[in-house]
Amino acid sequence: MRKIDIFDTTLRDGEQSAGINLNTQEKLEIARQLEKYGVSIIEAGFPASSPGDFEAVKQIAGTVKNSIVTGLARSVKSDIETSWEALKGGVQPHLHTFIATSPIHMQYKLNKTPEQVIEIAVESVKLARKYFPLVQWSAEDATRSDRDFLVRIMNEVIKAGATTINIPDTVGYASPIEYGSLFRYLSENVRGIEKVKLSAHCHDDLGLATANTLAAIENGATQIEGTINGIGERAGNVALEEIAVALHIRCDYYQSESGIVLKETKRTSQLVSKLTGVVIQPNKAIVGKNAFAHESGIHQDGMLKNPETYEIITPDLIGDVATELVLGKHSGRHAFFDRAKQMGFQLSDEKLNAAFVAFKKLADRKKEITEEDLFVLLTDQQVQTSEAEVYELESVQVQYGTSNIPTATVQAKTPSGEVEVVSSTGAGSVEAIFNTLEKLVNGKVHIIDYRVSSVSKGRDALGEAVINLSFNDVISTGRNASQDVLEASAKAYLNAINRQIVKAHYQEQREAVAQ
Ligand code: KIV
Ligand code: ZN
Repeated sequence: MRKIDIFDTTLRDGEQSAGINLNTQEKLEIARQLEKYGVSIIEAGFPASSPGDFEAVKQIAGTVKNSIVTGLARSVKSDIETSWEALKGGVQPHLHTFIATSPIHMQYKLNKTPEQVIEIAVESVKLARKYFPLVQWSAEDATRSDRDFLVRIMNEVIKAGATTINIPDTVGYASPIEYGSLFRYLSENVRGIEKVKLSAHCHDDLGLATANTLAAIENGATQIEGTINGIGERAGNVALEEIAVALHIRCDYYQSESGIVLKETKRTSQLVSKLTGVVIQPNKAIVGKNAFAHESGIHQDGMLKNPETYEIITPDLIGDVATELVLGKHSGRHAFFDRAKQMGFQLSDEKLNAAFVAFKKLADRKKEITEEDLFVLLTDQQVQTSEAEVYELESVQVQYGTSNIPTATVQAKTPSGEVEVVSSTGAGSVEAIFNTLEKLVNGKVHIIDYRVSSVSKGRDALGEAVINLSFNDVISTGRNASQDVLEASAKAYLNAINRQIVKAHYQEQREAVAQ
């Protein structure tokens, strides 16, 4: 069996997708879960891109012990040095630096000749190696680059000290046969390639990311990069869970193993979906909610006779256990804390107590508390962090009738500590709430995207709202799960606004320290 290292870039390439904005605490939670999931490398962010990214990468590098933590840097001295400051506390400091190598990128984006690009790449790798024992170098847009130019530049960056060479299909342009043959060609022609790791990085613009990544593995890749649930810019990156399960189920063919703890798949996928607000399509391979559902009579008949007729992957393999009734209205604090521990949550006493209060409130209104409900309650506590004063919804009331004008009234605590009561109307209940909240926050709010879904099954299931909005031209995403979708919608709206307030607060604090 060949070992294929899994490089996760959910927090960097994934976080670059439109509408995703994770705070440091949420990124830390995802990183901890990725470590449990067994990924070899976590790309925690792009430290030079913003103080927030720097802080998150630094905290992740200082926390995660069983996966290597890396960060992205352009081929720029200040990016590499800033990344060192963020990553030096890691167990094995690793840097990921890149430059574009395709004619179109070199000419129009970089405005550099191929010779200049080689020189910049070599200088940046040499500088990076002064700090980092592990340096990955990527040829951005490799699949639209000249092969012999790739050979030349790779010869030089390996000589300069790169320890991994990454060949990204940046715009998702390659076909599996082409991408595989590029790996073969570079393996056979680049000097010293056998001493470094060879990595694949595929985007999904043509829906070929999984096929391309597997083709790279067949043709010499020893590392593959991707994201959980395939999130990422445009059509996203390859979904890591698809590769990990493919290598497991078809180990007879690929003769490779990833080191991924497959039982953590579902949990990892749910956490990323919840915190990013990116919903998983129902028919998504491996983690979609219908991935193991058999509808047609012929399939059901086959399944009853022998599950192997139609089921090549069992839900159990990926930790998709049936949701049982875990706790109820009469469950005590002790049982609740035990269950939280069993589910893998490590919360302070204060947060556990707060989660317990939320659980009791929910149990009063909802008969059966499922594992999904607990997951939402506990995750909410885990990622809650704020020393900044924010908006707090105290109550929301909506009057709706088929022949009335919907009217909402909101009572909320404002960041200045006052309690305000505001009212407004709208064409529907949700619009009335949003109009009221816009009055409350006293700024220009534009709703970019808004979705509600149910957390679990049944008519009393929690409703989850995700809202992507711009507030005075700054974009953020908020989410909330509550028993009523209108309450969840109001809270998700304020959550999106609060994220901006918290971000600005930390920014001010940083600036004050810097002065
Ligand atoms: O897609 C890409 O080319 C990238 C690089 C920065 C590796 O994400
Ligand atoms: Zn990418």
